[in-house]
Parts: sequence; C-alpha cells; structure tokens
Amino acid sequence: MMRFLCDTAEVPAGETRSVRLEGMPELVVCNVDGEFHVLAATCSHGKASLADGRLLGCEVECPLHSGRFDVRTGRATRRPAKRPVAVYECVVEGGDLYVSDP
Ligand code: FES
Repeated sequence: MMRFLCDTAEVPAGETRSVRLEGMPELVVCNVDGEFHVLAATCSHGKASLADGRLLGCEVECPLHSGRFDVRTGRATRRPAKRPVAVYECVVEGGDLYVSDP
C-alpha cells in the first residue's frame, strides 16, 4: 500500500525533511536534485535523526558523529556508521510524494 508522505515542494533540492506516519518509524525524505529518496531516519550507529543531518550529493551525514549513508541504497559509506538503514520505495504523483508501507 502506498501512503501519502508530503508535498514535494516541502523538500527543496539538496534538503532533508523528517516525516512521521502512524505505525512507521520516523522517516527522512531526501531530495537529490529533484529525485526523492525515503529512508528510516534513525542512524544505525546511535540515536540521532538523519533528518537533522546534511545532504551531500547522494549521501546524508549524521549530525552526531558524521557517519554517512547512501540515500539510494541505505548503505553506510563512512564510519563510524557501519550498518545500513532501511530504504523505502517512493513515488511522486502530481507533486505528492507517496511511500510504500511494507
Ligand atoms: Fe550517527 Fe553516530 S549516531 S554516526
């Protein structure tokens, strides 16, 4: 099932946004040059929210210890982060962003 997440206009290119949907973990929406990616927001290393981090190209940097994750795959790309974070399938329809509810 796809669930409405947010308006794409709420997440400008190069930025991230935290979104909470009932029954799902906190999510972070990342806009990489108009391409949207949705990940579980909680860093796999600690308790920080990646929604508070910086987006650097295709990577989001954790605000706590600067671990990084590839927003396309969830793979950890810089230590101390080692384990991946979950990625969620998403689609854009008419300016609305939807995420799959696994
Ligand atoms: Fe994210 Fe440590 S909490 S790198």
